Amino acid sequence: MTDKPRVWVSRPTWPDIVARLADHFVVDEEPDEAVFAPAVLAAKLAPCDAAIVGMKEHVGAAQIAGAARLRIVANLSVGYDNLDLAALTAAGIAATNTGGALDESVADYTWALLLAAARRVGAAERWLRAGQWHATQFKQWLGLDVHGRTLGILGMGRIGQAIAHRATGFGMDVIYHNRSPLPAAVERECHARYVEQGQLLRDADFLVLALPLTTASRHIIGAAELAQMKRDAVLINIARGGIVDDAALAAALADGGIAAAALDVFEGEPQVHPALLALDNVVLSPHIASASVSARRAMAALAVDNVLACFGHGPHAGRPPGLLNPAALAQPRANLS
Ligand code: DGY
Repeated sequence: MTDKPRVWVSRPTWPDIVARLADHFVVDEEPDEAVFAPAVLAAKLAPCDAAIVGMKEHVGAAQIAGAARLRIVANLSVGYDNLDLAALTAAGIAATNTGGALDESVADYTWALLLAAARRVGAAERWLRAGQWHATQFKQWLGLDVHGRTLGILGMGRIGQAIAHRATGFGMDVIYHNRSPLPAAVERECHARYVEQGQLLRDADFLVLALPLTTASRHIIGAAELAQMKRDAVLINIARGGIVDDAALAAALADGGIAAAALDVFEGEPQVHPALLALDNVVLSPHIASASVSARRAMAALAVDNVLACFGHGPHAGRPPGLLNPAALAQPRANLS
């Protein structure tokens, strides 16, 4: 028998990163990717002192009810709509995310999607691979220019700001909407201007969604909002499925309400609305905006740091850098470390 606390890691990461836990914990890392039914997840958490989970693990009151020793749920993502923060806080369980570890990589990928949608990269590649390139026509595959146009960003946190920084090279006018305007110095650094949401919808040539999914942001882009956008506008969602009403978006794309879209996230993913799958003017990818080697390694490392810190180890001892619910630490569970 060991008296070391036990940490469960819900998906395979990197051995050198997880090894940092081994001095202080019994580590149980899943060898394969799996989807855990709610009751299975509860059983996995029950004997744990700490858990590192991914966004497909939904942790709420029912999953922690039998986890009397659990002190931290460290999310392997910046978004944390998979965690019931109120339930975790009420139980005195810390919740953490990986904010900061992936911002630049997600911003890079956002531009890949934006450019691909504007210049029809996916559709053109599908056409070429299908053996349809028999002659080059002057007026075929015409797309939209990006340079010199207006970039709108809804949600101007770290990722939104990183996206804005990259617009300088394209000579774009950058406007944004956020719960509140950024400090003037940050706006200057991003070359971005605050506007009301209605103006953002009306003026953006490219509208990027970079806000968290909350009750308030669910379907923040639906039929009414799409109708306010320019007919040659492009919508890019790298944030979370559910922020956009995918059925309304598919309808707008089909009837020319907007020109194109690029989506990395979907309502009910990994299912994708069938109407979107049938359209050629939408670029689709399987929630991979943070999937660069360095970002995913940094996310895993930060989740490990969060767990170590929660148990008083490492450079952040006692202060997990990604802590989302400081109130949980005000009423911590028995210190078992
Ligand atoms: C995040 O970190 O929230 C990303 O969506 C995961 O790739």
